[in-house]
Amino acid sequence: MMSEMEMSRRGVLAGSAAAAALAAARQVEAQPVKAAAPATMPVSLTVNGKRRDLTLDTRTTLLDALREHLKLTGTKKGCDHGQCGACTVIVNGERINSCLSLAVQHQGDEVKTIEGLGTPDKLHPMQAAFVRHDGYQCGYCTPGQICSAVAVLDEIKRGVPSHVQADLSARPQPTNIEMRERMSGNICRCGAYSNIAEAMAEVAGAKG
Ligand code: FES
Ligand code: FES
Repeated sequence: MMSEMEMSRRGVLAGSAAAAALAAARQVEAQPVKAAAPATMPVSLTVNGKRRDLTLDTRTTLLDALREHLKLTGTKKGCDHGQCGACTVIVNGERINSCLSLAVQHQGDEVKTIEGLGTPDKLHPMQAAFVRHDGYQCGYCTPGQICSAVAVLDEIKRGVPSHVQADLSARPQPTNIEMRERMSGNICRCGAYSNIAEAMAEVAGAKG
């Protein structure tokens, strides 16, 4: 059985340990919390044919670099996590979701946005076809749709296979189904899909 003296000695030790822990915790609380400066990095991109040199927080997405730093607001932010395609741009000839990519990963890359495809006076053939076929309603998804559509026709030309058409040499002209499949990452809340496919078919010279 524990003597009274042992019990009180234990009590004193436990009490002092608790007091020391409390004092340490208070000291930690009292320290001013210094926020670490965000890491930045220089990055050079060629955007719509012009070299652009930026110093960016390494967490900046390519989408934010274009919109917030270069003021190229034609590229739209929809979901900001790779589900809608509104942020599609063409990088080194391939379409990508710019919200899923860090700008600093694109050192030296060639980026094409909707602003680089055509101008109001001189529309790109795909832009003109979208106008002719009413390929948009509110227009929010349209820059991404057009960048994607341009890249899709280029993919087909280069023979990049899809789920629908594994061997393009067997059928060089893309079908309506195939174009819709390839465009399936670009969501349109206004539901302009049929008109978009018609615009693409016209540019591709496809019969459907
Ligand atoms: S904003 Fe990038 S996929 Fe939706
Ligand atoms: S035109 Fe409105 S979301 Fe596509």
